[in-house]
Amino acid sequence: MEASDLLRNSLLHLAKSTRVRDFVEEAPVSRSVVRRFVPGAATADAVGAVGQLQVTQRMATIDYLGEDTTDLGQATHTRDAYLALLSELARHRYTDDGRAEVSVKLSALGQSLPGDGHRIALDHARAICQAAANAGTTVTLDMEDHTTTDSTLESLRELRQDFPAVGAVLQAYLHRTEADCADLAHAGSRVRLCKGAYKEPETVAYQGAEVDRSYVRCLKVLMAGQGYPMVASHDPRLVEIAGALAAKRGRDPKSFEYQMLYGIRPEEQQRIADRGDQMRVYIPYGEQWYGYLMRRMAERPGNLMFFLRGVATRG
Ligand code: FDA
Repeated sequence: MEASDLLRNSLLHLAKSTRVRDFVEEAPVSRSVVRRFVPGAATADAVGAVGQLQVTQRMATIDYLGEDTTDLGQATHTRDAYLALLSELARHRYTDDGRAEVSVKLSALGQSLPGDGHRIALDHARAICQAAANAGTTVTLDMEDHTTTDSTLESLRELRQDFPAVGAVLQAYLHRTEADCADLAHAGSRVRLCKGAYKEPETVAYQGAEVDRSYVRCLKVLMAGQGYPMVASHDPRLVEIAGALAAKRGRDPKSFEYQMLYGIRPEEQQRIADRGDQMRVYIPYGEQWYGYLMRRMAERPGNLMFFLRGVATRG
């Protein structure tokens, strides 16, 4: 195994460790270090970040951080956080024309609760979709580890019966995803394509450079289809290929969009928005930033160095 894979796997392992999380959360990390990637814990922090992005013609999708809840109270709290967020976004008119939407993890809404988890998460998601529709916008269902893919796509189908604009996320690293892209590339279907952020076994997922090749195959399917592709990647090669495929298919710039994470490649985000393409930034906020931040570290050692320098200079 290469050193970079070893580091990535270790960080993804640490992302699940509650002991390390407690340590890191209590370390004297400056707010500004975490805030490069997470604008804050409160609704107002997320709404403020959306406002700043809209001034620079960038759209937003907002994620209230938290996942793998096995506590019904926490799942309900997450639903309520989204309802409050959507109401604030609408009050500022940031949701007009869907310029700000929300991204939701079903596991944060109770998907992993024993027994009735699927139904509880679906009910919570339905309430969020209704609030989003009232605010003039929509929801995208984040995709989590491969054990949840079928259940999440089943929830997507159910939600789309009442809210057809609900977006899906597909992960190019899974062997199944090219076929899922073909299924979801129909008119009106919003599909975010990402590489995939979880540690997955070779039995279900491509590894290394194979992931990029799968991403391109999936992009071809989505760009050739009738749906609305959302190209979620910071990878300059994939961003360029997406643009070339859209041009080849004669796609209008309004018929697809690029997406990147808050704080990652902001100059590139701006360049894409300035040339007249649609750019949406994924903004995570909330108290539970630890797992999210560790996944970003796993993706790029440069992010890890930035973080450690911040800890060291303040520790
Ligand atoms: P990757 O991390 O391989 O980076 C490729 C290249 O991008 C690098 O070589 C470098 O050139 C450039 N780059 C990356 N980071 C940089 C940085 N900090 N500074 C400068 N250059 C940088 N995952 C998931 O499993 N489920 C989900 O629901 C989502 N949702 C989601 C939404 C959005 C909007 C995004 C952008 C991503 C996700 N993801 C996700 C995460 C996704 O699966 C993936 O883990 C990350 O986007 C990282 O993959 P990249 O495609 O960016 O390439």
